Amino acid sequence: MISIQEDVIAGLLENPKRISSRWFYDEKGDKLFQDIMELPEYYLTRAEFSVLKMYAKDIFSYFTFDKPIQIVELGAGDGKKTRVLFNYLNAENKSFEYIPIDISLNALNRLENALKKEYPGMAIKSIQTDYFSALKKDELQSSKHKLVLFLGSNVGNLNEKDAIEFFKQLHQALKPGDGVLIGFDRTKNPETILAAYNDAAGVTRNFNLNLLTRLNRELGANFELKNWEHQPKYDIERKSALSFIRSTKEQSVTFEKASKTIHFNEGELIHTEISRKFDLEDIQNLASKTGFKLASNFDHSMPLYTDSLWLA
Ligand code: TRP
Repeated sequence: MISIQEDVIAGLLENPKRISSRWFYDEKGDKLFQDIMELPEYYLTRAEFSVLKMYAKDIFSYFTFDKPIQIVELGAGDGKKTRVLFNYLNAENKSFEYIPIDISLNALNRLENALKKEYPGMAIKSIQTDYFSALKKDELQSSKHKLVLFLGSNVGNLNEKDAIEFFKQLHQALKPGDGVLIGFDRTKNPETILAAYNDAAGVTRNFNLNLLTRLNRELGANFELKNWEHQPKYDIERKSALSFIRSTKEQSVTFEKASKTIHFNEGELIHTEISRKFDLEDIQNLASKTGFKLASNFDHSMPLYTDSLWLA
């Protein structure tokens, strides 16, 4: 896994400048993201929660439980939505082991502690890494029957090329009959989407700008927070919500630990996140291109959101 210093400096030397969204999730970032999921404007988490609750039975009808199934979750976060699936499996006496994977060690530790209390005896093994490195782990390469969860529209945070590459590699790691359940936020009224990334209370703003505080602390940078602002945008052609951090004046920032100084023009943007939105056709195409069979789409209607079940 690449280090934060190497990745951030490389991204800031690119034109246009960018910082990968994986670095959002320090302790403060984890907390702010939990707050985002509760926001009135952020419909994604609630929509997916309803889908999982409504269709847990249908989702698991595609899997055999003669041996415990391995549930691997990419970007598990606080596991709030996943509990809906655990509750269903426990009520049905179906045995499983849970492998949460996340970039944030803090989030994983909290999740593991909480689950061990709430579900005594649950088989759980957490792994701290990023999506691509996760594919190389023994737990993913094992021959156990698997359901991989990739919820929360996290798939939208990969650009198209990376998403195709990611699912091709995932397909290679899986056996016939294994599945992946993917949360896709659907295209809809642009105002509804933009509001989800630009809430009135400013939580998303704080989340985006917290990146700079993290870089000040961990890379010895000297970003002055008052000289930066959150700038979200919805790009209709790219079907993408984009988040930027905007430099409000011409300035330089020094990264002491990397002995590097980076210059920013007034109005210059640092791209921090892409959150792609999907039509049903885009979902089908992504499955077909990467070797998966689309088994079923489980939809939430208002606002539109789809959890799509693919089989290897
Ligand atoms: N996976 C989430 C999404 O695409 C991540 C996210 C939500 C996010 N709000 C954000 C990332 C704001 C950056 C800024 O919806």
